[in-house]
Amino acid sequence: MINDSLLQSLHSHLAGWGLRQFTSDESYFQWQRDTLSPSEITALHQRMEGKRSRSSVDEVSFYDAAAHPNILPVLYSQRYDYYVAIGPRVADGLGEARSILDVGCGIGILTTFYARQYPDKTFVGIDRSPASIARAQEQVKALGLTNVQFECLDLDRETPPGPFEVILATHALVQAEQDSGIPSRSWKTFERAGEIQQQADFERRTGIGARLDRLCALLTAEGGMIVFEKTRQLARRVPLQRALAARGLGLIKQPELIRYRLVEEIADDGPFYVMERGESCQCHWDELPEPDEGRPFDRTKLKTGSTDPDAPLYENHCPSAQLVWTQLHEKQVFKETTSQEPDGRQVHVELGEAEEGIYLYCANTFDQRQLVIVEPARKGMLESYYKEITSLPL
Ligand SMILES: C[S@@+](CC[C@H](N)C(=O)[O-])C[C@H]1O[C@@H](n2cnc3c(N)ncnc32)[C@H](O)[C@@H]1O
Repeated sequence: MINDSLLQSLHSHLAGWGLRQFTSDESYFQWQRDTLSPSEITALHQRMEGKRSRSSVDEVSFYDAAAHPNILPVLYSQRYDYYVAIGPRVADGLGEARSILDVGCGIGILTTFYARQYPDKTFVGIDRSPASIARAQEQVKALGLTNVQFECLDLDRETPPGPFEVILATHALVQAEQDSGIPSRSWKTFERAGEIQQQADFERRTGIGARLDRLCALLTAEGGMIVFEKTRQLARRVPLQRALAARGLGLIKQPELIRYRLVEEIADDGPFYVMERGESCQCHWDELPEPDEGRPFDRTKLKTGSTDPDAPLYENHCPSAQLVWTQLHEKQVFKETTSQEPDGRQVHVELGEAEEGIYLYCANTFDQRQLVIVEPARKGMLESYYKEITSLPL
């Protein structure tokens, strides 16, 4: 439970940075148009595209541009609900730690919030975007903070002098959203083999291994980390967790999956990990897919007689589709195919009939599962989907 006064302090802190909270996308975009010129908006979009190219030069150039006084409030307001979701959780998780490093701190919106909350703790924020750090330093002066310092530094090349009792990394450590992660043993399971090579490849490709090694060398013997990255998909969650565990970090709280609103998007993010070195870790690393969101399959509640002619009896595009597929009654398979894709993923597509209806099931080794059930009269529709997916003659 996030305490109200902490939340109130965060809202006024964000207002001090010029950020606004919007309840609709339209009002946000109206404000964007009122605040920025059309050429500024175009330039920003171009830099965002560049950032997606994944070159570190383009990424630094994007964050430098984002720190410009005109752009900053407009752009960072898109993340308002992210700050509300993360800021109080991190502040709550700092415990007795006295020295804290915030890695990839950006312009320091959250770092300065923590520093204001805890005048008796000291904070260091590092980031490789020079303009972001310059902005953070200006804000430190404006707020009269004496317990926080910011340094412009690329974690892939150097680290600040430690040690630190807690290291924070929120949206900073795994800048590799397009990395597919590591596959499961087969399309039938979510389990990953303990293959050292696959894990090593993931850590090298994403840079997470070298970054964690550098950071862990800065931690005190009983130090901890708070980590929140875009690794919700099991194929990336598992190798991240294995990388953390292999460096002696254990969970002191159950990891939390966090949902928040961005402009034009709902983000399902995380998990939010609070970890420590040492013997005090009470929670286990969980490598299971997310549980069904409280909607267990009920075959007596299939959508029969729907007025929408295209509505299936049932559809599920989450990992929990697998359990429903295994539980279908009197299953009879018409056609199935299992293929190996060029990127290494194994894909299974199956068309069949069960007491529940005609079904199409698709599964792959990157945790995607889809099950659709229709009435027997609409078998042709699933046959054509099957054909489309497998590109096989029926
Ligand atoms: C999405 S922002 C997150 C900012 C902040 N942690 C937050 O939670 O709002 C990611 C930041 O990580 C920084 N970053 C990425 N890779 C870095 C590296 N190797 N060394 C230092 N900073 C890095 C970027 O410059 C950017 O400011």
